[in-house]
Amino acid sequence: MKVLSLALAAALLGITGTASASSSNQGILKANGVSLADWQTAYDKASSFISTLSTSQKLSLITGSSISTSNTTFSALTFLDGDMGPQNDFYVSAFSLSSSLAMTFDRAAIYAQARAVGEEFYGKGVQVVAGPTSQPLGRTPWGGRNVEGFGPDPYLNGVATGVSTRAYVDAGVIPGAKHFLLNEQETNRTSSGGGGGMGGGMGGGPSMGGDFPGNSTASASSPGGSAPSGSPFRRRAASSSTSDSESAPYSSNADDKTIHETYLWPFYDAVKNGLGAVMCAMTKVNGTMSCENADLLMKNLKTELGFPGMVWPDMNGQSTAQGSALGGEDYGSSSIWSTETMQALLSNGTLSQARLDDMAIRNVIAYYYVGLDDGEQPEAQATNAYVDVRANHSRLIRTNGAKSLALLKNTNNALPLSKPRVMSIFGAHAGPALGGPNQAMNVQGSGPTYQGHLASGTGSGQASLPYVIDPHLALVMRAAPEGTMLRWIMNDTYSSSGSTLISSDATSTSAQVTYANYATGSDVCLVFLNALSGEGADRTELYNEDQDAMVNTVADNCNNTVVVINAVGPRLVDQWIEHENVTALLYGSVLGQESGNSIVDVLYGDVNPSGRLAYTIAKNESDYNVELCYTAQCDFTEGVYLDYRHFDAEDITPRYPFGHGLSYTTFAYSSLRTKIDASIARTPQGTPSVGGPSDLWDTIGTISARITNNGTRAGAEVPQLYISFPEEAEQPLRQLRGFERVNLDKGEEGTVRFELNRRDISYWSVEEQEWVVAEGKYKVFVGASSRDFRLRREFIVKH
Ligand SMILES: *[C@@H]1O[C@H](CO)[C@@H](O)[C@H](O)[C@H]1NC(C)=O
Ligand SMILES: *[C@@H]1O[C@H](CO)[C@@H](O)[C@H](O)[C@H]1NC(C)=O
Ligand SMILES: *[C@@H]1O[C@H](CO)[C@@H](O)[C@H](O)[C@H]1NC(C)=O
Ligand SMILES: *[C@@H]1O[C@H](CO)[C@@H](O)[C@H](O)[C@H]1NC(C)=O
Ligand SMILES: *[C@@H]1O[C@H](CO)[C@@H](O)[C@H](O)[C@H]1NC(C)=O
Ligand SMILES: *[C@@H]1O[C@H](CO)[C@@H](O)[C@H](O)[C@H]1NC(C)=O
Ligand SMILES: *[C@@H]1O[C@H](CO)[C@@H](O)[C@H](O)[C@H]1NC(C)=O
Ligand SMILES: *[C@@H]1O[C@H](CO)[C@@H](O)[C@H](O)[C@H]1NC(C)=O
Ligand SMILES: *[C@@H]1O[C@H](CO)[C@@H](O)[C@H](O)[C@H]1NC(C)=O
Ligand SMILES: *[C@@H]1O[C@H](CO)[C@@H](O)[C@H](O)[C@H]1NC(C)=O
Ligand SMILES: *[C@@H]1O[C@H](CO)[C@@H](O)[C@H](O)[C@H]1NC(C)=O
Repeated sequence: MKVLSLALAAALLGITGTASASSSNQGILKANGVSLADWQTAYDKASSFISTLSTSQKLSLITGSSISTSNTTFSALTFLDGDMGPQNDFYVSAFSLSSSLAMTFDRAAIYAQARAVGEEFYGKGVQVVAGPTSQPLGRTPWGGRNVEGFGPDPYLNGVATGVSTRAYVDAGVIPGAKHFLLNEQETNRTSSGGGGGMGGGMGGGPSMGGDFPGNSTASASSPGGSAPSGSPFRRRAASSSTSDSESAPYSSNADDKTIHETYLWPFYDAVKNGLGAVMCAMTKVNGTMSCENADLLMKNLKTELGFPGMVWPDMNGQSTAQGSALGGEDYGSSSIWSTETMQALLSNGTLSQARLDDMAIRNVIAYYYVGLDDGEQPEAQATNAYVDVRANHSRLIRTNGAKSLALLKNTNNALPLSKPRVMSIFGAHAGPALGGPNQAMNVQGSGPTYQGHLASGTGSGQASLPYVIDPHLALVMRAAPEGTMLRWIMNDTYSSSGSTLISSDATSTSAQVTYANYATGSDVCLVFLNALSGEGADRTELYNEDQDAMVNTVADNCNNTVVVINAVGPRLVDQWIEHENVTALLYGSVLGQESGNSIVDVLYGDVNPSGRLAYTIAKNESDYNVELCYTAQCDFTEGVYLDYRHFDAEDITPRYPFGHGLSYTTFAYSSLRTKIDASIARTPQGTPSVGGPSDLWDTIGTISARITNNGTRAGAEVPQLYISFPEEAEQPLRQLRGFERVNLDKGEEGTVRFELNRRDISYWSVEEQEWVVAEGKYKVFVGASSRDFRLRREFIVKH
């Protein structure tokens, strides 16, 4: 391997405007002083392999081509979406989306799902999962792609992102987290002004999603490559157009504290847990393309977080060869990083050999880290080849779906259902879509609701559904053996055009088809609502007038109206939630192929609900503080005040707070104990490592509480730990810093323990460029949501 002098590398990096001379090797593995720990072996294998390559082989490698040396062949890595299962493949499972998984507040459930997803990728011969999807975080409830991410609380998001990352590694595939960074809306994300002409088919249609760089003629195994011939489905193909850097994509402008405490936070968890790849976003940060932003990639990601893997671009994320090469991208389009261009940059010294080697190493290091070099992974085949990787994952999908559902309201013992005699079902979301589960779904302009049961995301979040169990199907199967009589109108806007001679009459089985008639005389009326958005377009509404009119009409005529919602983000309910006949509300995100079963399991009490809201549901949309940006400069002026942090700061009462979710049983909290280290150093003392300073993750104390199931049936409680910081830290009023799930039989007691690590009580000091622990009093709150505290205490931190 050619070794360039560090001084030259320093001078070259200086050109990109990165900070000081002392940090000039930042971003370059080994040279930047990050201790590689359990990545060392993979690094050694990677650098030994790279040392055998010529410059042109390295260039082939970093642009996604297979390369052969005298004694080995390295097949180009295959990249594929996503967290909901291998996209566009036959014989795969359709899992729930990340926003649903986050609502489980359950590390084991999240791990199990990501592990199963990872195993399906492995079985299909795909090496890189374009996931976990930490972000969009959900800065604004209007964000079209919030459904794909783990939500706006950095702590919960971080736990979920970290656990998923580890699960993908354990499954033997490379986790490729996205989107890096501050890519919080679809509007103006590309230079075309709108969402960017995206929107793929739900399986069958063209799949021009946003997530891959372009060389549409590249080999099948390269990202952006076309599918093996004969396949009716295609792997993602993308054009290699460059973007207009003058206006759109918009630039997300955020301050250093906000970037660290909110958006980088979950990526720390991911890097700590074995992250192998990062997808940089198609938008800008502080005026520079995310994929060409050395502050973001070389300094924050590769040096501070100690990320050892590769950065690859979202579609159109790479605009110039030099910008992306020096900015921190490691994998790029062969059209932009053409041999000619790269050789020119190398020969006039703009691109150092050290940086090129660094790129090459980063392209393969994770391959060794996850063990793909053992040669055991099955070869990729055509997307429709009969390679069934689903195992028993349908059971997990059903269980996790039920676990994610949050019971937000339950009065008059409306739920669980108990052998209702007459049940009426309303809404398009209750039944199948006309075109079936894999109906092509063009995101742009579609929504804001879906005419059928919404069980998948769209664009990069669209699952390959082998089938969908919709609620109607599951309800018929569950209710019929109990003798329940069923009626339904599976349409949100139905108005009977026939004669009105037959009117509302509870004693008639053959009423005219109207919401009022069907609702009248029912023991329970189930109204199903959805809200749809996804890649390519943001949301246009947070509630829907047609659906809300339907709920109100049903409730006017049915004293036991139960509403079930599956929504891509916050869906307001104040249009009817206080109607005296709306007795229950069950709320979730997009649940995957077993959706109807998961919902019916909870409605009937076969599963006791335990999901929790991963964002706040406001009473009024004006209660949210962040709207979409329509300008080229999008200033994140709200700083770290997202979601409940904003509601707390402004003392706004939400309809349902972050963390809320009821059970069919009840729980009592007692015996809060705190045990914190006597003295904690102000700043981390550990060596820079993969995942930040090594002691950033050290446990500094434990907080415990006793939980008793004092109700009438077995159930799970999710006690949450919130912390208030001393003033010096300049933090929001309270922040989630722990959650545990505990399953208890009726009458049973259990203890939950929240382990606090150094980062949990640290703030980012902009002056010191360090995670700092403030001295002083920390208030501890343990409760059932961000607004329902059952136990309080304090602890003192001294240096
Ligand atoms: C094969 O390549 C490795 C480097 O990866 C080298 O060390 C080894 O000598 C080569 N073996 C032969 C037989 O060429
Ligand atoms: C973005 O700009 C803000 C304000 O100047 C600065 O605090 C922050 O460090 C910058 N971050 C990046 C990644 O450019
Ligand atoms: C795309 O990739 C193919 C195969 O690697 C290569 O032959 C072709 O030159 C590339 N096209 C462009 C425009 O870079
Ligand atoms: C090096 O070459 C590239 C590509 O030809 C050019 O864009 C760049 O300005 C050159 N830089 C220097 C310092 O000569
Ligand atoms: C699925 O099968 C595996 C191994 O066969 C087993 O360990 C796991 O518990 C099963 N999962 C479910 C949800 O049934
Ligand atoms: C729903 O009912 C309305 C009014 O009767 C009708 O126009 C519409 O086509 C129906 N929608 C579907 C999806 O059947
Ligand atoms: C609710 O409606 C049902 C069916 O019409 C009726 O049997 C029941 O008495 C009503 N309950 C109340 C509390 O009004
Ligand atoms: C509630 O439902 C009953 C029918 O069961 C109806 O008579 C009553 O008017 C409804 N209440 C309201 C406020 O609409
Ligand atoms: C929100 O508040 C505004 C102003 O008070 C009101 O006009 C609007 O109807 C409210 N929206 C909802 C959904 O309640
Ligand atoms: C952003 O999008 C809006 C609406 O789509 C459009 O009017 C505006 O010109 C776009 N702004 C930029 C900077 O592209
Ligand atoms: C269970 O405990 C909670 C909290 O202490 C209390 O409000 C509730 O009344 C108790 N429930 C029963 C059935 O005792």
